[in-house]
Amino acid sequence: MAPTALLVTSNRHKLEEARAILAPLGVRLRGRSRRLPEPQADTLEEVARAKLRSLGAIRGPVLVEDSGLFLEGLHGFPGVYSAYAFRTLGLDGLLRALADRPREARFRTVVGLRNGSRIHLFAGELAGRISREPRGSGGFGFDPIFEPRGGSRTLAELPPGTKNRISHRGLAFRAAARRLGGTSGELRPGPPGPAPRRRRSATH
Ligand code: IMP
Repeated sequence: MAPTALLVTSNRHKLEEARAILAPLGVRLRGRSRRLPEPQADTLEEVARAKLRSLGAIRGPVLVEDSGLFLEGLHGFPGVYSAYAFRTLGLDGLLRALADRPREARFRTVVGLRNGSRIHLFAGELAGRISREPRGSGGFGFDPIFEPRGGSRTLAELPPGTKNRISHRGLAFRAAARRLGGTSGELRPGPPGPAPRRRRSATH
């Protein structure tokens, strides 16, 4: 039987992308729309762990994810505050804040997987540059201003399949898929229940 997992997110774009990434690996993804608490934290890993902790009892493998855009010219801002920066500054505000500073940037995603009492974290990263103006209509969020390294098109100008192949989210979810048994063996669901205090983690 194909491994199945539940992704809890209020972002339908993330669910769509994760499904497209996992389907070719034989992992079926169910979605549950729920806004999870995002504590003030220094790292995406801490946020992903907090999201997993807030889930309560769920049977079978459950996934959450947290992503951020890290701008070299702004010393890593917005990073873990990316959702806030997107809501308050928007793309134009962020471009203005960056002004003539260095345009190197990276996207990062951390996927948290909880299966019974075990927790695993998987990270993915995409390096690139911030464009001078928003371009393209695909994707979501900061995609119109992010040019992956080695090309001149923004993520919003690339076909969705191309974004998923190279993206931070693609890397993190494919690593999670290996753990879920998408490419090697199957993960048996553990007993339901919130994670215990001591957790094992594996960040790749
Ligand atoms: P969060 O993981 O929901 O906290 O996302 C942080 C912010 O980054 C949100 O405003 C998202 O829209 C944006 N974001 C997350 N992933 C991506 C992506 O793959 N492309 C562009 N923007 C993204």
